[in-house]
Amino acid sequence: MASKESKKMTNDRIVVKAIEPRDEEDWNKLWVEYQGFQKIVMPLEIARTTFARFLDPQVKLWGAIAIDTETGNTIGFTHYLSHLTAWQVEEVIYMNDLYVTENARIKGVGRKLIEFVYKHADELGTSSVYWVTDHFNHRAQLLYTKVAYKTEKVVYKRVEH
Ligand SMILES: CC(C)(COP(=O)(O)OP(=O)(O)OC[C@H]1O[C@@H](n2cnc3c(N)ncnc32)[C@H](O)[C@@H]1OP(=O)(O)O)[C@@H](O)C(=O)NCCC(=O)NCCS
Repeated sequence: MASKESKKMTNDRIVVKAIEPRDEEDWNKLWVEYQGFQKIVMPLEIARTTFARFLDPQVKLWGAIAIDTETGNTIGFTHYLSHLTAWQVEEVIYMNDLYVTENARIKGVGRKLIEFVYKHADELGTSSVYWVTDHFNHRAQLLYTKVAYKTEKVVYKRVEH
């Protein structure tokens, strides 16, 4: 009972908002953490380009961050983009990344970030939102099965050169 109550209070403290220019430093910090989670190190140029694209109204790539309003800390982010499809008139949204910093997990932050993407998708006139995850990422899937369904698809990728 106590943990449910504290979870609810924590949830009320969380605000998700579209990334703004002043968020660059906070976003960068989490972006580096996320790369650690993904076991990769990206060149700084990618961070700079990606952040600039979030702010460019001509580019259909967006970033949103979750903030703990009590501490002012940025505790999570999502990145998503919109693209055409041969299968319907409306564009579809692909959620590229989702991340919640370790000590803010299992408090509803990831769910709020996904709900933010869903809301923006509705505003853009599409209800199609999809993403991929590693088959072994069971933790993420505990959340995903609550907000989406698992497809039968398998992802293939060209070997890059
Ligand atoms: C995956 C991730 C984004 C989830 O974020 P989160 O804020 O912990 O998730 P939430 O608290 O919103 O989870 C929501 C639901 O999933 C369930 N859940 C999530 N993690 C759980 C766990 N470890 N054990 C049990 N239930 C869990 C919760 O019970 C919750 O259900 P409820 O809202 O109905 O009570 C976060 O763990 C993370 O950033 N992981 C590292 C990066 C990563 O894996 N990103 C995804 C790449 S595809």
